[in-house]
Amino acid sequence: MDPFFSTSDSVPTTLSIGPYELRSRILLAPMAGLTDAPFRQIAWECGAGYVVSEMVSAKPQLWNSAKSRSRRVVVEGIDPVAVQIAGSDPVQMAQAAQRHVADGAQIIDINFGCPAKKVCRKLAGSALLSDPGLVEDIVSAVVASVPVPVTVKMRTGPDRINSVAPHIARRIEAAGAASIVIHGRSRACRFNGSADHRCTAQVRQLVNIPVIANGDIVSVADAEQVLRETDASGLMIGRGAIGAPWMLGEMAGRLAPGRDVRWRIVLRHLDLIYAFYGSEQGVRISRKHLLAYLTGFGFDRAVIRHVITAVSAEQQRDAVVRLRNQTGVAAQAA
Ligand SMILES: Cc1cc2nc3c(=O)[nH]c(=O)nc-3n(C[C@H](O)[C@H](O)[C@H](O)COP(=O)(O)O)c2cc1C
Repeated sequence: MDPFFSTSDSVPTTLSIGPYELRSRILLAPMAGLTDAPFRQIAWECGAGYVVSEMVSAKPQLWNSAKSRSRRVVVEGIDPVAVQIAGSDPVQMAQAAQRHVADGAQIIDINFGCPAKKVCRKLAGSALLSDPGLVEDIVSAVVASVPVPVTVKMRTGPDRINSVAPHIARRIEAAGAASIVIHGRSRACRFNGSADHRCTAQVRQLVNIPVIANGDIVSVADAEQVLRETDASGLMIGRGAIGAPWMLGEMAGRLAPGRDVRWRIVLRHLDLIYAFYGSEQGVRISRKHLLAYLTGFGFDRAVIRHVITAVSAEQQRDAVVRLRNQTGVAAQAA
């Protein structure tokens, strides 16, 4: 398909992860339930320099679950292929990494950032930040098990007082990690308050591997400010890209797309969802994305409800096309 943007790939790259030179410093954050294969593809087409799978459990008994299989899908044309794993047993994590690499992963990302109860109760995700020795063991075991770069995503620490990230970051680097993403919140903060990137700036001074800032970066102005404040090697964007994946391109220096191009992106995203999940499941999965797109476009709740409650993919897509046409955009984009 045509590129969405009038300038493309012209932004100099300054971020490499291991041997992979990323095409931009703007990375899409993993978000379980949102950054599935269709969303990763649309984010890539909009200019993200890197996308990664939603976290996949390292437990061998879950390898063949429908969820794990769907999460580790390799999207053709996206390079490098990165898969995020979560778990707390170094041996299981190493074995999981090997299986993903055998399946095509070119980067293995370790999740030390998720505060979700389901993950933390099993002592994984950000709960591990209370045990720096285990963090180091996991990174070392995974690094030793695969011939690809191993990256880490973490929070600032278990709580606001214990900002252990600088201390842990050094150990993670010594264990062989290729880069670190820091979400500027503690585990205890969950998603409350606003992200504090001071810890990221500190880590940036302490380690030589790329440090990527994450948390509450939703506009080009935010991106510029966080880059200034942290001197980070790159930025990872999560919620700011939901309903606005073009923001990833804008932050990477591309021109902001006009309304017609945005509609094309919405329709393209819908088509990717229907193709990936089939129309029956696709019509349901697309609702959360449509809610975000249409809210961002400024439609009122009644209009949005009409579109997202459509019962078939065909009706849903038609409703979106009608809405677009009513707002005065030429029909060529359908
Ligand atoms: C719905 C949702 C799901 C998430 N799932 C993951 C995940 O699977 N792995 C992970 O490392 N972080 C996960 N996160 C955290 C994000 O990657 C990111 O660190 C966080 O949202 C802060 O960035 P943002 O303010 O740009 O959204 C998730 C966040 C949200 C909102």
